[in-house]
Amino acid sequence: LTDKPLLGEHVLVTAGPTRERIDPVRYLTNDSTGTMGYALAQMAWRMGAQVTLISGPVDKPPLMGVERIFVTSAAEMYNAVMSHLPMSTIVIKAAAVADYRPEFESDKKLKKQDDALLHLTLAQNPDILKAIKERRNAACFVVGFAAETHNPDYYARKKLEEKGLDLLVLNDVLEPGAGFGTTTNRVSLYYPDGSVQQLPLAPKLDVARDILLAIAEQKKGKVIR
Ligand code: PMT
Repeated sequence: LTDKPLLGEHVLVTAGPTRERIDPVRYLTNDSTGTMGYALAQMAWRMGAQVTLISGPVDKPPLMGVERIFVTSAAEMYNAVMSHLPMSTIVIKAAAVADYRPEFESDKKLKKQDDALLHLTLAQNPDILKAIKERRNAACFVVGFAAETHNPDYYARKKLEEKGLDLLVLNDVLEPGAGFGTTTNRVSLYYPDGSVQQLPLAPKLDVARDILLAIAEQKKGKVIR
């Protein structure tokens, strides 16, 4: 890229899954590989931004020019995001954060009980995007993702509105070549004025470039509330 549309911006990206411990050998997680978030972080740096990547546990090499902070659980991701929020001018939440964690984490391996059901009680994790909405600087541009399997348009609009986002990126994760664990993605961008822009199926790095160009364009016209 010859042009640096994100020069002067400090971009905070979250990527990958979170892990919620059950006991020393087991945890709850999801299928995120971090590819989409890492592509956003790399491309934001190429576009001239200073970039901090808060990464869940994924098997990926470090990225040129990008400060990476590893976290494991949603609670750790929450703390890392909150401590970097004051310096950030753009926040992009591509991580697949677990909504629930086991209510109690056992410090010993849980043992099998013959013929008995094991009940795992789950407690809700903090909603990081909602907390960002309450604490961000007015000029900070906040982007959320939605990974949906049904009624994608309905849930995308609901998340955009409820989480007070400047942009929502929807991926229908049942669509071939889109969502978790793929090298490509196909996303739709939802804007607060109700408009929707569909991007073509493309490698995640190209999708990241188009999302970041849309952010740069929108941020110029952002009305500070
Ligand atoms: O990592 P890959 O394998 O490349 O896959 C990419 C991806 C499918 C994970 C990515 O494109 C994506 O959609 N990420 C968001 C997945 C997700 O958790 O969506 P959600 O609809 O459950 O959450 C909505 C938004 O709220 C997300 O921005 C999420 O980061 C955020 N969230 C969710 C729960 C929570 N407790 N706190 C949050 O901030």
